[in-house]
Amino acid sequence: MKLPLVELHLHIEGTLEPELIFELAERNAVVLPFATLAELRAQYEFTDLQSFLNLYYHNLDVLRQAADFTDLTRAYLSRAADAGVRHAEIFFDPQAHTSRGIPLLTALGGVADALGTSVPDFGISTKLIVTFLRDRPANEALQILREILASGYTIDGVGLDSAEVGYPPELFEEVFALAAANGLRRVAHAGEEGPPEYVWSALDRLGVERIDHGIRSLEDPALVERLVRDRVPLTVCPFSNVRLRAIDTLADHPIVRMLDLGLLATVNSDDPAYFGGYIDDNLAALDAEFGLGPDRLALLARNGIEASFLDPAEKAALG
Ligand code: HPA
Ligand code: ZN
Repeated sequence: MKLPLVELHLHIEGTLEPELIFELAERNAVVLPFATLAELRAQYEFTDLQSFLNLYYHNLDVLRQAADFTDLTRAYLSRAADAGVRHAEIFFDPQAHTSRGIPLLTALGGVADALGTSVPDFGISTKLIVTFLRDRPANEALQILREILASGYTIDGVGLDSAEVGYPPELFEEVFALAAANGLRRVAHAGEEGPPEYVWSALDRLGVERIDHGIRSLEDPALVERLVRDRVPLTVCPFSNVRLRAIDTLADHPIVRMLDLGLLATVNSDDPAYFGGYIDDNLAALDAEFGLGPDRLALLARNGIEASFLDPAEKAALG
């Protein structure tokens, strides 16, 4: 039987597969700068986070109508069901769409539509985490959060993503305070390319409950002690780390060291359409590289359940 997997670090925009880019371009009469799938795929060589983000934001141009966002989300849920995912806490980047003229509620509504039937259609429960682009002004994030809170759509949490270095978490204190006041869960990308100080700041200034990536935390023993003591989950994305050159090769990935240190590390897929595979592919590659074996694969699955925002009864039902 497949392990019950939980996906905690997944940008829905990062599941936009090349085939769907072409299909949506045709549907919406968008002229792509690539003539063939092969030409598009040839762009998928990244030197760092920014080189990836440039293509990621660019490709979103084909998402225009609510139905496009629904199709994108349903395609992910279908693939995730094949991987054995039973629960997914999905990131959605409103500013990646509003900044190019797509109304907030068109994009959010399209994603929410697909999530609304994820249990009957795919056997996957979901939560929706709105992520703010840290390389855009905090005031814009605040405005979008206020609009969402007034919209009648339910979201479960907020996060921070996009270019990290030079954009420390504390810039978003007011946004996260408003989220907390409205009962939203809080996460942030930190320690992906940025230093351990950003992880401290996400914890202490934003009050986040999970750190996305967090791999550079290993450079700071006091931080590791804090993360272990408080059982702060780290949503680690091995394929992403290698493809964005945060880690040289999969063999150099610190996931096993993280588990050995007692960190609540989980394995996730980040932007699977760009980084070579989904959560099951990440786990299979780690198993092949490190010989994780059934016990550590099961530990990773249990960590995912523990690190989720499900309530205790829901966790027990999964595990
Ligand atoms: N890091 C930061 N921002 C992102 C990522 C990531 O891995 N994926 C999509 N936006
Ligand atoms: Zn991410």
